[in-house]
Amino acid sequence: METEDRRILIIDDEPSICAGCRMTLADNGYVSDACSTGRSGLKALLSGRYQLVLLDMKLPDMDGMDILQKVKDSGIDLCVIVMTGYASVKNAVDAMKLGTFDYLSKPFSDDELLNAVALAVENRRFKEAHMAVRRQPATRRDFGNIIGENPRILQIFDDIRKVAPTDTTVLLCGESGTGKELFARELYAHSHRSDRPFMAVDCSTFSSSLLESELFGHTKGAFTGAVQDKEGIFSAAGNGTLFLDEVANLNMDIQAKLLRALETHEFKPVGASRLKKADVRFIAATNRDLKTMVREGRFREDLFYRLNVFPIIIPPLRERRDDIPRLLYHFLRQTCRQTGKRVDGFSDESLEILVNDDWPGNVRQLKNVVARLVIIADSPVLECQHLSDHWEAGPEPVRDEVPDSLDALKAAKQNLLDVQFGEIEKAFLKKALSEAGGNITRAARRVGMQRSNFSTLMKKHGLNSAAGPSSDRI
Ligand SMILES: Nc1ncnc2c1ncn2[C@@H]1O[C@H](COP(=O)(O)OP(=O)(O)OP(=O)(O)O)[C@@H](O)[C@H]1O
Ligand SMILES: [Mg+2]
Repeated sequence: METEDRRILIIDDEPSICAGCRMTLADNGYVSDACSTGRSGLKALLSGRYQLVLLDMKLPDMDGMDILQKVKDSGIDLCVIVMTGYASVKNAVDAMKLGTFDYLSKPFSDDELLNAVALAVENRRFKEAHMAVRRQPATRRDFGNIIGENPRILQIFDDIRKVAPTDTTVLLCGESGTGKELFARELYAHSHRSDRPFMAVDCSTFSSSLLESELFGHTKGAFTGAVQDKEGIFSAAGNGTLFLDEVANLNMDIQAKLLRALETHEFKPVGASRLKKADVRFIAATNRDLKTMVREGRFREDLFYRLNVFPIIIPPLRERRDDIPRLLYHFLRQTCRQTGKRVDGFSDESLEILVNDDWPGNVRQLKNVVARLVIIADSPVLECQHLSDHWEAGPEPVRDEVPDSLDALKAAKQNLLDVQFGEIEKAFLKKALSEAGGNITRAARRVGMQRSNFSTLMKKHGLNSAAGPSSDRI
């Protein structure tokens, strides 16, 4: 999406200008194409794929002004930067009337080019952001990444539309695998900060002292190993969005520091004497009941209220069974695309079993089950017997279709590795956890891994810190 909304067309008959611009743009994360004639340029613009054009006004076969006029007549909304060797005032005024955004007079430096492009992109985003606000309320189509038509999910879409453009802190609550992170990203995508960074911090991954310096940064010499100043996530997030995942896992000390950041937008890098300012928008997520934790004295009440300004409760899958068939088919198609395998659907009986299951691991579990069923399927329709055979089974020999190209062969190999290795990896984590009585630090030490890496792997497999037998069964 990022690259798509930065797609730029360069129309210039001088190959060196096209090549130079493309290189500079590519180095700065922009995607561009080039056309050397007016006619081919116009055709490309009329395809509607470009948001910004760098246009030479003097082309061998067409006048730049004619191109602008034709694009305008076609109703395509385009941002134009005119490049010209001999900008006349008359030309400039005419071009402005046709929607030109900026001028670059040749020869121009890389910096001039990048400044003009950055300004145009900002301007365009600005316009689009306002159009998006005006378009509300939209259909659920603007939540294309999230499958769900259940009234409670539609209500969440509505809530997100309302709260996203504000800077209000949002707390996403829901069981593991319900899609908290997915909703958080969608909230961010609908916000005015969508062109700024989205930084996700898993509060359970770091030890408390590490988390503090990760979040707030540290000064040189603040602790052993702090050989130089380090910027924390707060600074790096710029004017962006900070997603505090698993916020229930913060210890009391960090909770106090986070509270200050939420209240005053101020924070202190470890070892620093002065406070710093950060303009970040907070989204937090938890699968624990924070209110109970407050009652038990394990979570600060004031922080809870600061986070809980706009709670969004994502219901577990068993409370929105009408979405299960949609999700099953969504992940079926997704896995088919990824594996190149053809499976058309589920038999009525198997669908009934799947819809009536309680899905303790929620959407994540469902996604894993479908991926597994598709991979082991040997008929176009998934039957009950496939479910009973493979629902809770361990690694299975995979009988896949014979690949018919090198790419398909590689995909099949990768897929086999992912699936089978994934099973082994998960069993390995569970074993280590259970032998360490559920203590992540001890489990990681036992198997010779860094705690943070161990914890990241647990997350990948949807395992709880409680111990191995997490909610999901696959
Ligand atoms: N409604 C949905 N539509 C499509 N995919 C979904 C939906 N909900 C969840 N998923 C997918 O399920 C997986 C789990 O979602 P996610 O990681 O957002 O859950 P979570 O609530 O953050 O889980 P945890 O508490 O374990 O971190 C992801 O692959 C996500 O893309
Ligand atoms: Mg999550």
